[in-house]
Amino acid sequence: MAFCVYVLLLWFAGAAFKSTLAAPRTFEIDYKNNCFRKDGDPFRYISGSIHYSRIPRVYWKDRLLKMYMAGLNAIQTYVPWNYHEPVPNQYIFSGDRDLEYFLQLANDIGFLVVLRPGPYICAEWDMGGLPAWLLNKTDIVLRSSDPDYIRAVDNWMGNLLPKIKPFLYQNGGPIITVQVENEYGSYFACDYNYLRHLTQLFRHHLGNEVVLFTTDGASVGFLKCGSLQDLYATVDFGPGGNVTAAFAAQRYAEPHGPLVNSEFYTGWLDHWGEHHSVVSASIVAKSLNEILEAGASVNLYMFIGGTNFGYWNGANTPYAPQPTSYDYDAPLTEAGDLTGKYFAIRHVIQQYKSIPEGPVPPSTPKYAYGAVKMNKLKTLSEALDTVSFSGPVKTIYPLTFTDINQHFGYVLYRTKLPMNCSTPTPLSSPLNGVRDRAYVSVDGVAAGVLERDKYITINITGTAGSQLDVLVENMGRVNYGKGINDFKGLTSNLTLNSKVLTDWLVYSLSIDEAVSQGLLTGSQTEEMWSTLVTPLSAPAFYSGTFSIPNGIPDLPQDTYIEFPGWTKGQVWMNGFNLGRYWPKRGPQLTLYVPAHVLSTDAPNNVTLLELESDPCSSGSCTVQFTAIPVINSTVAHTTAHAFHSVLQYYSFVDLNMPLEIGFHIR
Ligand SMILES: *[C@@H]1O[C@H](CO)[C@@H](O)[C@H](O)[C@H]1NC(C)=O
Ligand SMILES: *[C@@H]1O[C@H](CO)[C@@H](O)[C@H](O)[C@H]1NC(C)=O
Ligand SMILES: *[C@@H]1O[C@H](CO)[C@@H](O)[C@H](O)[C@H]1NC(C)=O
Ligand SMILES: *[C@@H]1O[C@H](CO)[C@@H](O)[C@H](O)[C@H]1NC(C)=O
Ligand SMILES: *[C@@H]1O[C@H](CO)[C@@H](O)[C@H](O)[C@H]1NC(C)=O
Ligand SMILES: *[C@@H]1O[C@H](CO)[C@@H](O)[C@H](O)[C@H]1NC(C)=O
Ligand SMILES: *[C@@H]1O[C@H](CO)[C@@H](O)[C@H](O)[C@H]1NC(C)=O
Repeated sequence: MAFCVYVLLLWFAGAAFKSTLAAPRTFEIDYKNNCFRKDGDPFRYISGSIHYSRIPRVYWKDRLLKMYMAGLNAIQTYVPWNYHEPVPNQYIFSGDRDLEYFLQLANDIGFLVVLRPGPYICAEWDMGGLPAWLLNKTDIVLRSSDPDYIRAVDNWMGNLLPKIKPFLYQNGGPIITVQVENEYGSYFACDYNYLRHLTQLFRHHLGNEVVLFTTDGASVGFLKCGSLQDLYATVDFGPGGNVTAAFAAQRYAEPHGPLVNSEFYTGWLDHWGEHHSVVSASIVAKSLNEILEAGASVNLYMFIGGTNFGYWNGANTPYAPQPTSYDYDAPLTEAGDLTGKYFAIRHVIQQYKSIPEGPVPPSTPKYAYGAVKMNKLKTLSEALDTVSFSGPVKTIYPLTFTDINQHFGYVLYRTKLPMNCSTPTPLSSPLNGVRDRAYVSVDGVAAGVLERDKYITINITGTAGSQLDVLVENMGRVNYGKGINDFKGLTSNLTLNSKVLTDWLVYSLSIDEAVSQGLLTGSQTEEMWSTLVTPLSAPAFYSGTFSIPNGIPDLPQDTYIEFPGWTKGQVWMNGFNLGRYWPKRGPQLTLYVPAHVLSTDAPNNVTLLELESDPCSSGSCTVQFTAIPVINSTVAHTTAHAFHSVLQYYSFVDLNMPLEIGFHIR
């Protein structure tokens, strides 16, 4: 059924595309009548956010169709720079990163597009979408006129914007408006020359006709540094507040023109160790109704949140990384399923415009493949020859990820204990320089965990000359505020009994490549593992296989992977990095596994890198594939003892406002 609807839509969209040859297409701001004008007629958009970078390409069409059937006439998406230019001057615009295909699909389904190409996007995305390689200049001032930053931006936009240009509404495509920067008024730099430079850059590549806009929190304070002449100022705010007052803030910057809420929050983001955010459908519906009643254009952020696959999640400060799921309590779930909120929103939209005829595409089916037995392969230290392609760099003091040109994942720091530690001896990061979590072992035996902003000291024992391994995890770069220059690894010295540790070997790790190339294999000494019963185990790889059952129609289907008894780590399915799991902290217990990463032709390979502690000695050593997601478990609270003095160095200005306040800064 969904397919028939789609074919019809395509036909209509195609017809519309051709008729454009006759009359010129225009999209403008009418300051006199406080509205947009599309082809001369008054127009307002009702849009939803969907980030193509958080949804597998095979599902783009399904999600867009569901959005279309909710009555939206536009979609909004961010373009994450670091997703497309992972290495300077190397661009990826194919597969899941095929922005042009995504825009074409949106157009073909019948959508207009509100594009947010950054360069900074926030978005709870690693470093707010800025490439970590920018930190190669260690004192770079990001989001400012810093010449090295500007050079990189010019280069990127010189590649991106020419691809965008044919998709502008004026040129026959779906893009009606283009955002410049994002919530710039919330950033300390307040550099008007930077915004002016971006404006000229966008105009140079996109022409003078396209409507360029900015988005800021709905208060005069944010709009001050966020808005600029020639950029139409819009605001963002969530449900439950005073809509009139919020738009009054926009009127401060734009006395005339359409009212626009560029981010109306349908839900809210999560952090590991905090409760799952839930925003009631009725509050969302009520405020949406008020916004539409005011005649405003609106974008629902998010309409579908999707997933932070791999290492793409960001973090807030004091350091709080976001989990793998970006469900956002949005009207479509992480997996694209319909919710009560979807229908509540659809019902509100229906009061203001016609909704497309036909059935709403159903939620995709999920399948519980059951338990899969996991086998321990090797500890990371044992697998070092396999996962460190380049071998170690020798250095007196620790190097950062940027120093060794690795941007994501894990790096191993190795040295020898310079003294006998026969009694518990403090191993410490006195300047809070573990970015972000360090798994410490002595002679291969787990000794403890250090964590940024939480645990800066552990006690270890060992003899002089023992091997000290410190595996440091980058848990996601800060995406908001002053802290976005977020260097990873050991960014300051470790001390042992207050003496600086020196003479390190720093191993860049290519774990994703090793996993996807099937290089990790079992160890000869497998039986020995079960004899070591400790609360912690050294970081290690585990694998298991399962086959898709025969004789059941329409398999493979989507599923969720659950980690009974496991603690924290990274998981791959047939080499595809599904993301981080951390059931010990919560609130997310299951990770979304889209069907397209599963195979019916060969046994499916699950690989875990468990960082802290496996359940295998207790007899159960399995992962579980279930049909029901759990992203709202209660959370284990972590207390930061003896840490308050260090926290004083931090600016608390960057804290997200609590949900109840109504106007969110993101
Ligand atoms: C970082 O800078 C060094 C020189 O300062 C250069 O050799 C290296 O290629 C740069 N790396 C990146 C990723 O730009
Ligand atoms: C909402 O804000 C407007 C403008 O500031 C004010 O006049 C109105 O009384 C407020 N409404 C409520 C319910 O507080
Ligand atoms: C460590 O202790 C051993 C005896 O347990 C001793 O032989 C050795 O000299 C000590 N090393 C250092 C560096 O103190
Ligand atoms: C380390 O050991 C000392 C002495 O046993 C103890 O006082 C201290 O609390 C321990 N520190 C940590 C972080 O466990
Ligand atoms: C480590 O300590 C040494 C000596 O005090 C200092 O020169 C160096 O800059 C420090 N390194 C880092 C990464 O903090
Ligand atoms: C799983 O790994 C095995 C052994 O490397 C390989 O033969 C098989 O093709 C893999 N399965 C998939 C679905 O890639
Ligand atoms: C989690 O969500 C499910 C489904 O909405 C609900 O039934 C359950 O009560 C929630 N659990 C918690 C702890 O909030």
